[in-house]
Amino acid sequence: MIPAIVVTGTDTDVGKTVFTAALAGALHAHYWKPVQAGLVGGSDSQLTAKLSGLRPDRILAEAYRLTTPCSPHRAAQLDGVAIDPELLMLPASPRPLVVEGAGGALVPLNDTLLFADLFARWKAPVVIVARTALGTINHSLLTIEALRSRGITILGIAFVGEAQDNSEQTVARLGKVHRLGRLPLLDPLNRDTLAHAFAASFSLTDFK
Ligand SMILES: Nc1ncnc2c1ncn2[C@@H]1O[C@H](COP(=O)(O)OP(=O)(O)O)[C@@H](O)[C@H]1O
Ligand SMILES: [Mg+2]
Repeated sequence: MIPAIVVTGTDTDVGKTVFTAALAGALHAHYWKPVQAGLVGGSDSQLTAKLSGLRPDRILAEAYRLTTPCSPHRAAQLDGVAIDPELLMLPASPRPLVVEGAGGALVPLNDTLLFADLFARWKAPVVIVARTALGTINHSLLTIEALRSRGITILGIAFVGEAQDNSEQTVARLGKVHRLGRLPLLDPLNRDTLAHAFAASFSLTDFK
């Protein structure tokens, strides 16, 4: 089985799905969003399909599709379901698999399990997606500590936003993580502009 790469973020809305779509597209990987919370306005799997150009069969079905756009533990409660970690085991995949978490590393899935605990069970390396904007040093270093304290391997950090060399280098140095690259804010954001920006800033060998 080819190992999976897990993508988490310092926060919700930092650009995890956009980055993951670029990565999965470049690796010709499978994409999996195990828990989707919020269905109105389109799912992360749908956005990934659009932005990655991956064939539909490369986008694996979510284990949970929850109605409300909030923390999965609460979204599950509101839908009257309990998230069972046994249903969140990594699917065996004949191709590279890129997995997107929800929100950030310490988002709860149920009363006892956080996403980071699940990553530790998976024993898969994690990429952290972080903004370059003000506040990122604190959010990034907190995320790095939370992952390391669980013995999780951090593949590196991918930034999103306008270049902030000092912040990006400070996170890499103090957090002892590899800076993988940076996606600028793209306008327009589409499959072509994203693939081009990813190729210009990231090296695929970092993910193999
Ligand atoms: N590199 C980018 N360029 C332009 N817009 C972006 C970029 N990354 C994210 N966005 C915008 O921010 C929104 C949130 O990004 P998304 O990847 O869905 O975040 P997350 O998965 O972390 O919640 C997207 O709908 C998109 O419009
Ligand atoms: Mg997302």
